[in-house]
Amino acid sequence: MTKNKKVFLNGEYLPIEKANVSVMDRGFLFGDGIYEVIPVYNGYLFRFDAHLERLENSLKLTHIENPYSRDEWREIMLPLIDAKKDQYIYFQVTRGVAEKRDHAFPTGVKPTVFMMCNDITPFDGKEAGVKAISLEDTRWSMCNIKAITLLGNILLRQQAVENDCAEAILVREGYVTEGAASNVFAVIDGILITPPKSNFILPGITRDVILELADANQVPYAEDIISLDALKTASEIWFASSTREILPVVELDGQLISGGKVGRLWHTMNDLLQTYKTTYANSSAQ
Ligand code: PDD
Repeated sequence: MTKNKKVFLNGEYLPIEKANVSVMDRGFLFGDGIYEVIPVYNGYLFRFDAHLERLENSLKLTHIENPYSRDEWREIMLPLIDAKKDQYIYFQVTRGVAEKRDHAFPTGVKPTVFMMCNDITPFDGKEAGVKAISLEDTRWSMCNIKAITLLGNILLRQQAVENDCAEAILVREGYVTEGAASNVFAVIDGILITPPKSNFILPGITRDVILELADANQVPYAEDIISLDALKTASEIWFASSTREILPVVELDGQLISGGKVGRLWHTMNDLLQTYKTTYANSSAQ
């Protein structure tokens, strides 16, 4: 924890040491809340509207009131950002502080809002590629909600880490869903494929950007189901997320992917993404 780091809590900017939440907060007791992560490049909130749209959807599906308009959310974020760094805004909204612990929604409570901004640290070993492990997707079936209730994801990521892997590839009834904290892409028979949006995956913003870049640059792609068997024949596998961007996989379940080397399409797509980020930061009005 960085000392004196400024964070936002319920209408105030405070040093992180002073930002305290009641033990009766529904987020603490039940994990009853939702969150968002928005990358910030050169001070620009990357795909702000897409992230806010996903936040609004998470709030709607959980019946938590949205305390701010999009403009107000942006105003709250800006003072936390250091424009000289690559960073990400993390913010969460919980149902609020209830008088007693009861599963059913309390009445007359105000949502708790917490926000902080952290540096994006380049992911070690990205250029060389990472190892992945396939695991049964044991999470619930509302993975399209970006819920703070992440125990399922945490247990799966930890299992990956304990197996010397950077991330888990989750599999439900034989088909790939996503990573523990990322979406999954594969290149199979020369086509870039990612599983279609459904209640079993989080609709990733990075995922959307990759598909748009593929479309604009004549990269053949499809949103289609991927069986674990088919994944094992892939010439490339990637993870995609706001904080790790596009992460190439060179080993799955102890088997080398593409001879253990990062694939050609990853280099192309990573270059396209880096250019897009720079163009975006230079052109966006904020
Ligand atoms: N997680 N799927 C899951 C389960 C995720 O947690 C994430 C991101 C993604 C990718 O979404 P996006 O491209 O919008 O970041 C997919 C964030 C980074 C986190 O929990 O920290």
